[in-house]
Amino acid sequence: MKDKLNKIVSEALSQIDGSEHLEKLNEIKVAYLGKKGELTQVLKSMKDVAAEDRPKVGQMVNEARTSIEERIEKKKKDFEKKVLEEKIKKETIDVTLPGKAPVIGHKHPNQIALEDVEDIFVGMGYQVVEGPEVEYDYYNFEALNIPANHPAKDEQDTFYITSDIVLRTQTSSVQVHEMEKGKLPIRMIAPGRVFRSDEVDATHSPSFNQIEGLVIDKNVTFADLKGTLAEFAKKMFGEDTKVRFRPHHFPFTEPSAEMDVSCFKCGGKGCRFCKGEGWIEILGCGMVHPRVLEMRDIDPDKYQGFAFGMGLERIALLKYEIDDMRLLYENDIRFLEQF
Ligand code: DAH
Repeated sequence: MKDKLNKIVSEALSQIDGSEHLEKLNEIKVAYLGKKGELTQVLKSMKDVAAEDRPKVGQMVNEARTSIEERIEKKKKDFEKKVLEEKIKKETIDVTLPGKAPVIGHKHPNQIALEDVEDIFVGMGYQVVEGPEVEYDYYNFEALNIPANHPAKDEQDTFYITSDIVLRTQTSSVQVHEMEKGKLPIRMIAPGRVFRSDEVDATHSPSFNQIEGLVIDKNVTFADLKGTLAEFAKKMFGEDTKVRFRPHHFPFTEPSAEMDVSCFKCGGKGCRFCKGEGWIEILGCGMVHPRVLEMRDIDPDKYQGFAFGMGLERIALLKYEIDDMRLLYENDIRFLEQF
């Protein structure tokens, strides 16, 4: 009897140990401890056991039952632990995985270029000022020494609102507003939108941006203009940038010039970027015309000034090597994302 019990127990235990899931464990439980289970059968055969041996056999059967039950319980706990572990594993968050960054906006190339220009001039003590986009003919032309019938008026393809109100064709109009304030000296830059009835193409748009500059003080000379703009060019396009000034004509400056910078692609040797020239035109400039000062009651014998004006888009196109101005206005996110 003892051997039989030991055999049943050891078989049961090894089956329990080898079981792979909860259902199998239940099957084993039924097979040994159930109504028709092997151990139950043994219990049933107790009637054949001699009366004096019964307590001992009974104890043995109970012990066998307990050891099987305990092993089943232990195995069950193992299973539960395993299930829990797997669940935890599945639910863990790997905090080292890279997150999904929210999409944030980009600065427009115009804006980046504008901030660069502003930073440079603010660093030299200039103030950033603004003026109106809808302007009297007077501020846009007359006060800048461009009288009625002056050919420069036709050159600028003006949008007229009434016969004496225009969309400003140049930020030079802000020079007049600034002088009108009556405070000297002046050191200002004035960025802003200007309008000309131009057809849209790779280098033209009916609305674009300019940055105007004006300095008025005592003892201002062309050397100050050159020094200032040469310094600007270095800061904007790189320390090795050289500048050259070509005589030009603007009604509101005398003398007037256009400033070129040495090509920052080829360093001046000539390349596709500068169309073989080695130089790239950047801005117009000059000494403020005495008539412009006089119209604002500034005595040209006491005060002199220099002025300059540049196209913002032109600077942005050059700086970022963009070959079509229209890209700056289309606001295609795939284009803008690159800056
Ligand atoms: N206003 C001129 C234009 O739109 C640019 C310019 C040239 C501005 C010379 C200036 C200057 O202040 O001195 O073409």
